[in-house]
Amino acid sequence: MSSDEAAEPAGDGTLSAVESLSFDTSKAHQARIYNYALGGKDNYAADRAAAEAVFKVNPEMAFTARANRAFLGRAVRYLAAEAGIRQFLDIGTGIPAAGNTHEVAQAVAPESRVIYVDYDPIVLAHARALLVGNQAGATEYIDADLRDTGTILGQAGKWLDFAKPTAVTLISILHAVPDADDPHAIVARLMDAVASGSFLAISHVGSDLLSPQAQQGLEDVADRMIQQDITYRTHEQVARFFEGTDLVDPGLVRVEEWRPAAGTADAGRSSFWCAVGRFH
Ligand SMILES: C[S@@+](CC[C@H](N)C(=O)[O-])C[C@H]1O[C@@H](n2cnc3c(N)ncnc32)[C@H](O)[C@@H]1O
Repeated sequence: MSSDEAAEPAGDGTLSAVESLSFDTSKAHQARIYNYALGGKDNYAADRAAAEAVFKVNPEMAFTARANRAFLGRAVRYLAAEAGIRQFLDIGTGIPAAGNTHEVAQAVAPESRVIYVDYDPIVLAHARALLVGNQAGATEYIDADLRDTGTILGQAGKWLDFAKPTAVTLISILHAVPDADDPHAIVARLMDAVASGSFLAISHVGSDLLSPQAQQGLEDVADRMIQQDITYRTHEQVARFFEGTDLVDPGLVRVEEWRPAAGTADAGRSSFWCAVGRFH
């Protein structure tokens, strides 16, 4: 553990909560690398070094991070405004950044209930500090591992009525779950628990969106510098998460290509697949 470094970031006034935790900051972590790529300040030297090494191997990774975050915003806005969803189970919260799920959903419908889930102690510290208090709806946080669906569904059921349509959002998290943990079965267990008419939103790094050299380079960086392994998956493997759903237009595409804002010209750049599906 590197408790000296744990006092380093002071991005948003939540330092005292972060300081009181003990975690290893000597190796980079996905949530903090992503925070750095989004221009945040809640990251450590090891995270910044790993992020810069990733950008060297794949210069489009910073674009991919921003495009992924923008997809999250457009998907949640679609779910709240067009699909009429008022319950969100957002697993893989990340360190709070601009346009958090509850902010987007409650801007459309203040009564929206948003339950966040993450297993990172740093995310937990920030969630305690930032994801509190709102108007008509509810925002809650569950400290749990995606693989522990029993705990997630049991705790989320205190605030969400699973007899009503719910959006399960798994944005940039499933590639942190190796095949050995059967991520398709994990998603199926979550979706079995929610009513028909519920939605699933996913973004996921695509093995077929990276050249073999870029993928090898990213794996080398990860082996040397990053705490978690990443599993790259193909379009077909990501599509399998959506079995039993009708994909919302335009289907399974790169994150910048999913219902882009008018006037946005970016396409064919990121290395993340994404889709939103509605369960029958
Ligand atoms: C890259 S961040 C994504 C944040 C946000 N969803 C977004 O896309 O802007 C991924 C988050 O997933 C969390 N995560 C990874 N594996 C997890 C697991 N097995 N259980 C719970 N959280 C996990 C990480 O801690 C991290 O905060």
